[in-house]
Amino acid sequence: MSLRASILATGSYVPDRTLSNEDLEKMVDTSDEWITTRTGIKNRHISGAGEYTSVLASRAAENALVAAGLAPSEIDILIVATVSAEMTMPSCACLVQNEIGAVNAFAFDVNAACSGFLYALSVAEKHILVNPQLKILVIGAETLSTRVDWQDLNTCVLFGDAAGAVVLGSSELGDGLIAEKLFSDGSLHNLLYMDGAQSLNPALNNGEYQGSFIKMVGKDVFKYAVNAMENAVRVVLGQAGVDIGEVSLIVPHQANIRIINKLTQKLGVDAEKVYINVSKYGNTSAATIPLALDEANREGLLQSGEYIVLCAFGGGFTWGATLIKWQ
Ligand code: UT7
Repeated sequence: MSLRASILATGSYVPDRTLSNEDLEKMVDTSDEWITTRTGIKNRHISGAGEYTSVLASRAAENALVAAGLAPSEIDILIVATVSAEMTMPSCACLVQNEIGAVNAFAFDVNAACSGFLYALSVAEKHILVNPQLKILVIGAETLSTRVDWQDLNTCVLFGDAAGAVVLGSSELGDGLIAEKLFSDGSLHNLLYMDGAQSLNPALNNGEYQGSFIKMVGKDVFKYAVNAMENAVRVVLGQAGVDIGEVSLIVPHQANIRIINKLTQKLGVDAEKVYINVSKYGNTSAATIPLALDEANREGLLQSGEYIVLCAFGGGFTWGATLIKWQ
């Protein structure tokens, strides 16, 4: 039986402060009814003072380490998937390394927007296949509340702050990461972006710059997201020769309940086989999948020997799917 990279433990963290649809009704011209029917979101968690992305990431990482029974010093590599770190340089991962005391790790970030966690997991897996002794922290963490234009009705109701983490090691049982397929299409970058680079943003040079906010052509993103995730899931199942009926749980990126429902319908799976928590947290970009995975794990939904599929879609465009046989 071949050796595989395997998720040894999960952890997550969200800030205490919450922002409900009713709270948003007092801020912009929206309604609980619109947000609920169009997105499925009821609530999101919002960071308070000092709760930077690296702080959320560190708390999630610590929870995953406790679950794994590992000390921070036993981690060899620390990867953070994020688009909302409090600093451009150094990486969020280096800040997390310092915060949790992962003194023996090397640390770096991955930017693939909402698909970031799957990309980071993919990079980590390759290290494990080269050296099965390694222990790797893979974290998805965002404070998108700092990147949202709170006057923009089209985006401000969608996003939230959170972090999720896994410890990746190896399994000799043949369980673990079975198949993956990642995609990018940079020609569609204008449909979902957050400009921040001075050279690309003339507004930064005229003194009126107010910040770099998420901009999205929601309807187009919606259509691409459904089709792209469906295709990615079918590709990884095809690679592994696993039938969709054999999959116990699909953990999709949590952006919009209607995207998830359409995906469920197109894949022809039962609704109870798809994990959904978007109502509680909104879209937390790279954090949605590890957060959902940790919740599903704590709810006992991830059983040994079962097939779990993760799938994501985000800015870039980037998308992909990963098939796991839970250890
Ligand atoms: O994380 C990965 C990437 N992100 C996604 O996957 C998100 C993909 N897109 C979506 O989830 C949906 O497109 C949205 C939730 C963003 C928007 O839903 P929609 O059904 O596509 O609505 P829409 O943008 O077509 O807007 C419909 C109407 C518009 O009014 P008119 O033009 O019909 O009069 C909007 O102005 O709803 C209006 N609207 C709102 N009304 C109340 C837009 N946002 C709001 C709002 N509250 N927050």
